[in-house]
Amino acid sequence: MQYKEIRVGEKVKRAINAGRQVFSVNWIKRVESNVGDLAMLKYGDSFLAWATLNPLDPYHYVRLLSTDEKYEPLEDLKDKIRRAKDYRSKIGYKNHYRLVYSESDFLSGLIIDKYNDIYVIQNANPFFDKNIEILRDALIELEGKNISIIEKSVGKSRETSRLEPRERILYGELYETTIKECNKKFVVNVLLGQKTGWFLDQRENRKIISKIRSEKAIDVFCYTGSFGICSNSDQIFFVEKNKYAVNILKKNISINRINNYKIFNDNAFKILKMLANRKEKFDLVILDPPDLLSEKNGLKNIILINSMAIDLIDEGFLATFSCSQDLKEERFLSILRTIIRRKRKKFSIIGKFQQAFDHKVIHPHRELNYLKGFLLEIHN
Ligand SMILES: C[S@@+](CC[C@H](N)C(=O)[O-])C[C@H]1O[C@@H](n2cnc3c(N)ncnc32)[C@H](O)[C@@H]1O
Repeated sequence: MQYKEIRVGEKVKRAINAGRQVFSVNWIKRVESNVGDLAMLKYGDSFLAWATLNPLDPYHYVRLLSTDEKYEPLEDLKDKIRRAKDYRSKIGYKNHYRLVYSESDFLSGLIIDKYNDIYVIQNANPFFDKNIEILRDALIELEGKNISIIEKSVGKSRETSRLEPRERILYGELYETTIKECNKKFVVNVLLGQKTGWFLDQRENRKIISKIRSEKAIDVFCYTGSFGICSNSDQIFFVEKNKYAVNILKKNISINRINNYKIFNDNAFKILKMLANRKEKFDLVILDPPDLLSEKNGLKNIILINSMAIDLIDEGFLATFSCSQDLKEERFLSILRTIIRRKRKKFSIIGKFQQAFDHKVIHPHRELNYLKGFLLEIHN
């Protein structure tokens, strides 16, 4: 394969040795190149690493591929996926999990989620974008021929990397399957679903919610109902605006034989206001919004929706989450504290939520840590 040679300074060498895998144009000066070109980084005459270039993305201009001089893309990928799988198996994750989490598995910009025999790729690495067949072949060689491989390279990371959105079946025919969590069954439809089909990052948090005994719970921004269905509640209200998610939610309610429920296929802000006007109260409120901070009026809406959620509780639990990378845990807690104090209510912090263990965060790539949340007990 053809490649460019790029000489880097002491600072980049030290950063690579410390584990950094992504470099902006502030670290490494642009050379003439195309998206997905291969480059050999050198310090003086010594080899440092193989990398790929994206001249259209100043933040992720250089992504490391391997620090092994004898880089062979297919073998390297297979080795890293094998190791990634081994780690998930050691922490007890079977059948469905995030198999590859970007830099944490030494595959910068690449995510692979596994749902039984379905493998979903979400990629922002320009080298794999150009050579997608390597990814497909690696998965088939490792996992066998009876699998399905679907690419869902869409969304924010694709936009920042200036790569065209891609959604296609790369191999096989299967795109819907059933997974099990908290002794409940859930339909995952990779093509109709959001992200790669299921919010794997909430796995451990669902287990925590399943331990809480409640008489009347509400799962706000419920997607396909994972929290509500996992909860140990006599009656559950579900709120979700996306109609495709609600169709799958209905299937999930049916296969888990849930009888006492209500579904609101509408805007959460509107529904919570309506429920407050009706003076409806819940002893468990789950609030798992999308990345509100990146939307218009982000902070205002985070405050508003949490405030509305707290109004629905006299005595009970609030499980509130934020997947906004720029909202740090301390700031989130301070917002909650202010809202609750202003309402002259009392609260205890029972616990903190974090992303599941397959979403591990490698040093120094702290940006891989995005999910945070609190389990609060609210009382008058
Ligand atoms: C982070 S996901 C929730 C994931 C879910 N808790 C789970 O574990 O499967 C956020 C969900 O909120 C929905 N959503 C976004 N804005 C909404 C709004 N204004 N009202 C209702 N639902 C909304 C999205 O369609 C998405 O399904």
